[in-house]
Amino acid sequence: MTLNPTPVRTRLKEETRGVHRRTEDLPFFHALREGRLSLDAYRGYLVALRIILRSLTEGIQDAHDPRVSALGGEDGFRLNTLQGDLDSLEHARPRESREAGWHPHPRAIVRAHLMAQQIRARARRSPASLLGTAYVLHGSVMGGPTLGKWAADAFGLRRASGAEYLSGERERARAGWERLLERLHAMELSEDETEEVIRAAVEAFEGFGAVVQALHPEPEDLRTLPLQDLNPSAGDHPITVDPLELEAALRAGEDSWNRFPYYAERYGSRGAAFTRSDSAWLVTLARAPQEAALANVLWLSRLLSTRGMPRWLMEEHLLRLHERLVDTTPAPAGSWRNLLLAAETLREMRTAHVTDDEMVSISEAFDASAGASFTRRFPETGALIAAAVADEADGIQGATRSVRDWFTSRRRFTSSTIQAVKAAVVASETAVQARSR
Ligand code: HEM
Repeated sequence: MTLNPTPVRTRLKEETRGVHRRTEDLPFFHALREGRLSLDAYRGYLVALRIILRSLTEGIQDAHDPRVSALGGEDGFRLNTLQGDLDSLEHARPRESREAGWHPHPRAIVRAHLMAQQIRARARRSPASLLGTAYVLHGSVMGGPTLGKWAADAFGLRRASGAEYLSGERERARAGWERLLERLHAMELSEDETEEVIRAAVEAFEGFGAVVQALHPEPEDLRTLPLQDLNPSAGDHPITVDPLELEAALRAGEDSWNRFPYYAERYGSRGAAFTRSDSAWLVTLARAPQEAALANVLWLSRLLSTRGMPRWLMEEHLLRLHERLVDTTPAPAGSWRNLLLAAETLREMRTAHVTDDEMVSISEAFDASAGASFTRRFPETGALIAAAVADEADGIQGATRSVRDWFTSRRRFTSSTIQAVKAAVVASETAVQARSR
């Protein structure tokens, strides 16, 4: 490991100076200073911060890297203080306006979630880089004595009732910052790791910038813009912008992608964007009439199947989405019933052609012949093939071909893997034919 000669703390300060300046120069901060910011936008800022900080705290806790996990503990990011501010602001509102009209800007919420998703991806891919993210988030309250004062003046708040988090001169914020700097000073990082830390810091500044730009000046079209942030290629369709539902939708997408690395390998960043927007759309179906919800799920899953994603993937995603919604939101579990019913319908359609037991045995036989390294890279491929064949048998033309062609490309795979794939197709077709006799 080559040690980097310039301390990472020095590099962070120098190499983010420009983006710090651009960030603090955004209209949001000018409006805050000049007392022109709406209270909604200020509250939106705190809600976005909470989304981002929660993801970072979790990433640090879960990081399998002692240099990073040492940053956690002692409420290092003062989430409780932030929540206290949000509670005070909520409490201060007239009772009749609490239910409606004070929703933070959806586009800022979406952007905060995108940043939270980037943080979770870093926690998995390069946990040490979270030091750069932590640097920016701790640092964001260093101009805090000023930001907190501006907010207090603008909205007539006392510090302890809505502007405490941003009043970063308080001892705990300062102590957290000093601890982070000490750690950064003492840290031994490889050159590659240092580069990633810097990249993470710049990414965090840019993420912050994107969030506050969505808060002030205000976007004109609240309905379609958040969708374009999730996925620039999406058509015009509804998505949930409820902060907790959106978090559940994005996390369910990440769960599906972690379970099936096939998604990332085959569909890349465009696929990730569609997973975000489709998942956020699926949540809205929970509120649709049951038949309409089912018709929509069937339409999308059929389309995806012809593109190499058998309907079983949608079935599994819906189950995961349901779990995430139940865990994340305060709504009664029954609110999401449509999603479970749609998953159950997909399951019935699949098992009419290939049973669960058959899928398991085809999958096991496939793993045994494809070998450990392929199986680690693409778990559950045998089941995927069987599910594609079941879709084809159910009338989705091209479902098998789309999966088979990708997994039998000589450019990608060895001839023994290709043999295993072909054998799994034959075994699945045999199971289907046996049932149709
Ligand atoms: C109008 C808005 C802002 C003002 C006036 C401002 C001002 C300042 C000031 C005066 C410091 C030095 C504090 C000290 O050393 O005690 C500082 C540091 C810092 N600020 Fe800001 N800031 C603003 C917004 C932000 C935002 C939004 C972020 C992050 C997204 C941020 C990130 C940082 C970082 C990382 C440092 C530490 C720099 C270092 O010493 O390495 N700031 N800021």
